[in-house]
Amino acid sequence: MLKWYDANGRTMPWRVRGAAADPYRVWLSEIMLQQTTVAAVAPYFERFLARWPDVKALAATPREELLGAWAGLGYYSRARNLHAAAQVLAEQGLPADEVGWRALPGVGPYTAAAIAAIALDQPANVVDGNVERVMARLYAVETPLPDAKVELRDLAGKLVTAERPGDWAQALMDLGATICTPKSPKCSVCPWIKACAAYATGAPETYPRRTAKAERPRRHGVAFRIERDGALWLVRRPDKGLLGGMAALPTTDWRARKWTRAEALAEAPGAGEWKKIGSVEHVFTHFALSLDVYASTDARPNEGWWGDASALPTVFKKAAQAGRAT
Ligand code: ADE
Repeated sequence: MLKWYDANGRTMPWRVRGAAADPYRVWLSEIMLQQTTVAAVAPYFERFLARWPDVKALAATPREELLGAWAGLGYYSRARNLHAAAQVLAEQGLPADEVGWRALPGVGPYTAAAIAAIALDQPANVVDGNVERVMARLYAVETPLPDAKVELRDLAGKLVTAERPGDWAQALMDLGATICTPKSPKCSVCPWIKACAAYATGAPETYPRRTAKAERPRRHGVAFRIERDGALWLVRRPDKGLLGGMAALPTTDWRARKWTRAEALAEAPGAGEWKKIGSVEHVFTHFALSLDVYASTDARPNEGWWGDASALPTVFKKAAQAGRAT
């Protein structure tokens, strides 16, 4: 596996070869990589690092600025936790082991293990979705996910050694991301082809087994776009809940039932001429959203500020663009 990694491991902005990795960079990159692809993360990582080269700089920045820079990356509780954890790190210094990292906001078992292995060279058991899939196939585990999680973690743990733990963890992740892929694994170039029990069954892509997932429910909402002199009226979402703390367009609740025009206007952020100019779709983890967009140029809202779409989460960027030629 390590030989395979030396020859085939991917090059990434936060990776170093043959030297200790900077814990700040590893922490930042691993938070960004949660539920998010390497391709999506790379430009954000570069921008963050240029703007906040160390944890002291990050801790000193106002939270709204950090949330604004995170806009578009999704799972915004990560950005709130990043800011909270930066305060602790700037004050107390960076932890020296997995248990220490685990105590920080936003750092779960996966992230703490990844930092311990990659930045601290400690033999931690780093298990993400890629590693679960690799283990499920290597051992042809019949237990379906999510029940299989503990079993897969234990199998991965038995393979961890003190030899290059960071490279081992990243080798498994890269194998999962580039060869042992979910739909059509490239078994012919896999370094583990001879050992793989799922390959031996003839249908490796059917692992990991899964229990059927419930379908995503749909919700409906209305967003209000007030535009004057090229500026957009923005509000701040409450800290708790979806997109917490982020800048946003004013919006109704997002509910199971559609909104009539009369219901929508009763919730508008100011009296004025409102025109329905389109509708946008956005998929969140737990539901799909249909968001009608009502626009006004003369409404007089009270709570909020004039800004632009750059610091908005993607769903509101879409709403800000609704009805415009692309
Ligand atoms: N996914 C999350 N962290 C990763 C890493 N360090 N290498 C490859 N894929 C990853």
